[in-house]
Amino acid sequence: MKTSTPIDTLRLDDDQDSLVIIDQTLLPTEICYLALQSQAEIWEAIQQLRVRGAPAIGIAAAYGIYLAVKHSTAGDQGAFLKEFQQASQYLASARPTAVNLFWALQRMENVITSQMEVEIPQLVAALRSEADAILAEDIRTNLAIGEHALSLLQPGDGLLTHCNAGGLATARYGTATAPIYLGQERGYAFKVFADETRPLLQGARLTTFELAQAGVDVTLICDNMAASVMQNGWVQAVLVGCDRVAANGDTANKIGTLGVAVLAHQFGIPFYVCAPSSTLDLATATGQLIPIEERDPQEIYRKWYQKPMAPEQGVKFYNPAFDITPAKYISAIISEYGIARPPFTTSLRAMLAN
Ligand code: MRU
Repeated sequence: MKTSTPIDTLRLDDDQDSLVIIDQTLLPTEICYLALQSQAEIWEAIQQLRVRGAPAIGIAAAYGIYLAVKHSTAGDQGAFLKEFQQASQYLASARPTAVNLFWALQRMENVITSQMEVEIPQLVAALRSEADAILAEDIRTNLAIGEHALSLLQPGDGLLTHCNAGGLATARYGTATAPIYLGQERGYAFKVFADETRPLLQGARLTTFELAQAGVDVTLICDNMAASVMQNGWVQAVLVGCDRVAANGDTANKIGTLGVAVLAHQFGIPFYVCAPSSTLDLATATGQLIPIEERDPQEIYRKWYQKPMAPEQGVKFYNPAFDITPAKYISAIISEYGIARPPFTTSLRAMLAN
């Protein structure tokens, strides 16, 4: 695909022992790359959303754990594994909701535990290959999601998306944006509405930035304008990403997604969740069991303003980073393997089995 963000979300610089990321907290006004070396730097970058979006977090963790043990002086494989697990636990504590973080770290650990007889330098090389594979698979996965999702859309459709499930949230192309980029190449002339996505404004700062760069017709709206835009008949489908999908199809995604799903239901608009298999967590039965990250309240009333936008005394704040969209509001869940329709309890398992 030609059209997509030309920016590398993240890459390994093996010579400099660093993970190079674009600092997403500074976009769209500043394009600044950071070379992260220590585990603390990588943890902070994930926690502060310098690198963010479920798939990108997983890839960052995979390279992060490789760098953590690359120069290990462990005397034997057992000690090496212990060192790995300590670093893994630390990275896993950066954010709780996106299952890709835990998925990627587990996949990296399996590389060691499946071949404990192999010498440590070879284990290190295998970890590097696995992290590269996770990144390469993410790109292929997103293209496949794009093709499947595009088959559900019509030329000229108005599309609404929430948060950023774009190239910046993945290695490339994004999940919910992949059909938009493919459609752009094929003359579909989509009209995309991007919710600003309070409080951290991933829609305003990141989605509009990357879609505009690709020449997509994109309109920024405040979150509370989605109802009116739908009422006007301007939206034919909603496309969102996700951080974790439970076995019954309940889906955790950026705070505000639930409201968009309820609105789409009310207006009879299909609501599509784009979910790489790395985000499907069939070990978690329902959305109620998905841990929801709560973040610093300052993000709501102070972060983007010169002055606080609420009294700092005498007011309580609540800042959950994600919400759960019940499966009943979801028209389809689209992975690299195809399109799952309700009832998801059976269709998700069937999709993964094929
Ligand atoms: O807090 P963020 O910015 O990491 O939240 C990101 C989202 O909610 C995305 O929609 C999700 O991770 C899917 S990214 C392909």
